[in-house]
Amino acid sequence: MKEHTILVVDDNRTNLQIIRDILESQYHLLMAVSGEAALKFLQRKSPDLILLDLMMPGMSGQEVFQAIRQKPQQAAIPVIFLTANQDSEVEVECLNMGASDFITKPIVPEVLCHRIRNTLELRDLQNDLEEQIRRKTVENERLLLQAIEAIVYSIEAKDTITQGHSVRVAGYCRAMARELGYDEDVQQQIYQTALLHDVGKIGTPDAILKKTSPLNEEEYRIIQKHTTDGASILSTIGTIPYLEDGARYHHEHYDGSGYPQGLAGDDIPLIGRIIAVADVYDALISRRHYKDPLDQQMARKELMDHSGTQFDPGIVQTFIRLLDLGVIEEIQKESER
Ligand SMILES: [Fe+2]
Repeated sequence: MKEHTILVVDDNRTNLQIIRDILESQYHLLMAVSGEAALKFLQRKSPDLILLDLMMPGMSGQEVFQAIRQKPQQAAIPVIFLTANQDSEVEVECLNMGASDFITKPIVPEVLCHRIRNTLELRDLQNDLEEQIRRKTVENERLLLQAIEAIVYSIEAKDTITQGHSVRVAGYCRAMARELGYDEDVQQQIYQTALLHDVGKIGTPDAILKKTSPLNEEEYRIIQKHTTDGASILSTIGTIPYLEDGARYHHEHYDGSGYPQGLAGDDIPLIGRIIAVADVYDALISRRHYKDPLDQQMARKELMDHSGTQFDPGIVQTFIRLLDLGVIEEIQKESER
């Protein structure tokens, strides 16, 4: 059974015929008489291996090779060079460029078959390994997220009125990260960091969390500790670089009047400035022990009124854009499902 497809590129039709005779019974073959024709083939098909003549009129084998390596979908296809050139310097140069192998003409059928088989076996092993790693990575990420969610549910179970808060805040933060142009990996890291921003509340007494009247100085001091307590809990997890920053800095104010460190402007890590906006917005539109929910327009106005003092103006702008696009409302609805 023919499993693999090989693209053979050679300007000499006699050579193409010789190679066809040797390989036809074992592989699907695609034949190209020039580098340009080979690249055209590659726009439509993705062979398992390329046999590439080094010296051709028009594009040389090396030029074709470089063009192939620049295309992400084709960069991993193994290439074996064919040449009449006995010059070992050229051979070294090709191998250094990343060629899988180098075969000199005249072609010896057994050598050609062996080299091709070895290269394909190696490629298949590599693909298997990559697939296994990919699957394991997905599985690990899922486990990490489940563990994080379990922690979040246990914090929110302390006070049912805040249920869903962390998931919504994390959703807003991910949407902001996307809007700010961060790639999917960073978006996911920001999501996980925001999920855990209030983890330090695990140590805050219920009586303070659920208090309906204003907090006294001592109680205020205790509740502020959830930022630094959260950061020390998260400092033991090394997989997300700024995980502890999210907990530590989400109550800092842009003008320096926040806590725990009273940092101002860009001295507050970006993750803290992002979570701050999402956190306050969600608290404003939610019921709390001490207040009724605000409607979206009033919460929007609150954010604008505190832009540049409590919040980073750029982040407020990004959030307002998402609010106007309906993205924020969509995330709210999602958390209710
Ligand atoms: Fe908080």
